[in-house]
Amino acid sequence: MSDKILVCYASQAGSTRGVAEAIGKTLNEGGAQVDVRPMQEVQDLAAYRAVVAGSAVHGGEWLPEAIHFMRTHRATLTQKPFAAFLVCMTLSMRNADKYREHVATWLEPVRALVRPVSEGLFAGALDIRTIPSFGDRLKFRLSVVFGFWKEGDHRDWNAIRAWANTARPLLLR
Ligand SMILES: Cc1cc2nc3c(=O)[nH]c(=O)nc-3n(C[C@H](O)[C@H](O)[C@H](O)COP(=O)(O)O)c2cc1C
Repeated sequence: MSDKILVCYASQAGSTRGVAEAIGKTLNEGGAQVDVRPMQEVQDLAAYRAVVAGSAVHGGEWLPEAIHFMRTHRATLTQKPFAAFLVCMTLSMRNADKYREHVATWLEPVRALVRPVSEGLFAGALDIRTIPSFGDRLKFRLSVVFGFWKEGDHRDWNAIRAWANTARPLLLR
């Protein structure tokens, strides 16, 4: 088998794709061959030595296509080093550290399918105009008005790169 790592993602508005690309670039700069692809395009994991999978969080959960990916590839993923990450707005809050432990529980359904060698929890981005549902737009406008969340890009590239660097040896072991 090659030493190639797959970094795959589920993203609605694009911020998780950006996180996946940064993880892929960091792994690649560390000497690994990497493919970065949307989960929905991935059919076969045979070519990969290790897999990193990540999703945006909606309603405290990975996106449905991400859970579908895990269920479809569960048997193969249990045979390879596997790392998971999530991207959410809760970790963009001023007192985000207080919520990290709770946010980590959102990966429990993933852990129940395949135990990751490493887990990354990242702040994402919010652009209310891109949210398709009127009800969700209203909810998020209220979150902004009441000061829970701030619109904008909260991705912490240093934290993302640092996680990828710590995950690399665990993925290539
Ligand atoms: C419909 C919807 C539901 C969301 N639910 C949550 C949530 O439960 N917890 C949270 O912290 N962030 C939540 N978010 C924020 C997203 O996780 C965040 O904006 C993320 O960066 C989106 O990733 P994407 O740009 O790849 O789609 C939600 C966003 C949307 C649009």
